[in-house]
Amino acid sequence: MLRAWMARLRGAAGFVLVIATFALAGCADKQNTLAPASKQEGKISTLWWIMMTGAWIGFAVVVGLLTLGWVHRKREGLPWGGGERAATAIVIVLGTAVPLVILSTLFVYSDIFVVRSTAAPIPGTTARSVAVAGRQWFWQVRYPGTKAVTANEIHIPVRTRINVIGTTDDVIHSFWVPRLNRKIDLIPGRQNRVLVAADRPGVYRGECAEFCGLQHAHMSMQVVAELRAQFAAWLANMAKPARAPTSAEERRGQHVFLTKACAGCHTIRGTNAHGNIGPDLTHVASRSTLAALTIPNTRDYLLRWIHDPQQFKQGAKMPSLHLTDTELDEVVAYLESLK
Ligand code: CUA
Repeated sequence: MLRAWMARLRGAAGFVLVIATFALAGCADKQNTLAPASKQEGKISTLWWIMMTGAWIGFAVVVGLLTLGWVHRKREGLPWGGGERAATAIVIVLGTAVPLVILSTLFVYSDIFVVRSTAAPIPGTTARSVAVAGRQWFWQVRYPGTKAVTANEIHIPVRTRINVIGTTDDVIHSFWVPRLNRKIDLIPGRQNRVLVAADRPGVYRGECAEFCGLQHAHMSMQVVAELRAQFAAWLANMAKPARAPTSAEERRGQHVFLTKACAGCHTIRGTNAHGNIGPDLTHVASRSTLAALTIPNTRDYLLRWIHDPQQFKQGAKMPSLHLTDTELDEVVAYLESLK
């Protein structure tokens, strides 16, 4: 009997340890909602701390009352005296009146101090909009008013209110950058908006927060907040067509890209590749990751990705193209030149 209980206790302790490890790992990552990097997220995390503190106080009161009841279980009436009427009064006050006051206060507080200040900007009132479309499984990013199209990396100028216009080209996704603001669902046939701003330059990781198929877990993106001049230079480069190949190998690589299946799915602006199934690759070499933050964008990973994408992202729409080793090297040399 005792041994069975000890085993159960050990099991429970192990479970708590696993949960704690995951929770702490989450804190160490770049996606901690309680490490706000914008005024908006600051308000949300303050609300979280208020609610968490309140919940712990409520929990302590309930546990305290339960303990008192247990200690005095053999006596009639309340521990501190008083009969049925006093007990009814306690239930009405603690069970109805106090929650009503707390919830009403929270409702008013969150509406005035959180909901309004974190809401999406009214169209036309911000300096810039960024159009983000969810795709199985990457993010297409456009900058309205420019020719810039990219994927999974959203550059923004620091300390600027950005109106993110979210849509989806297939199923429901959800756009969330936990350190910057709240999240929005991307729903087929609809346009939702969210305000994104960062107080300091930095890279803020975001996730798809709605299950959207096999590779939902590999649908991340990052917001890169940078100084205005840096952002302007980045955007000007993104808006340009792709750089022409300069070496013989790059030229052969471009030929492979345009004649094998690549061009059917990808766009490289300035060439005959106009596909719209996968990400725009006009400036693919300027991005730091591949496959929506699944693998780093290095020569080695790019080669292995093109050779067999399914080994990294099973179910992704990109098939293996069965290129020869030489063709692979050439295509990688070409793509690596697209800064
Ligand atoms: Cu897209 Cu989950």
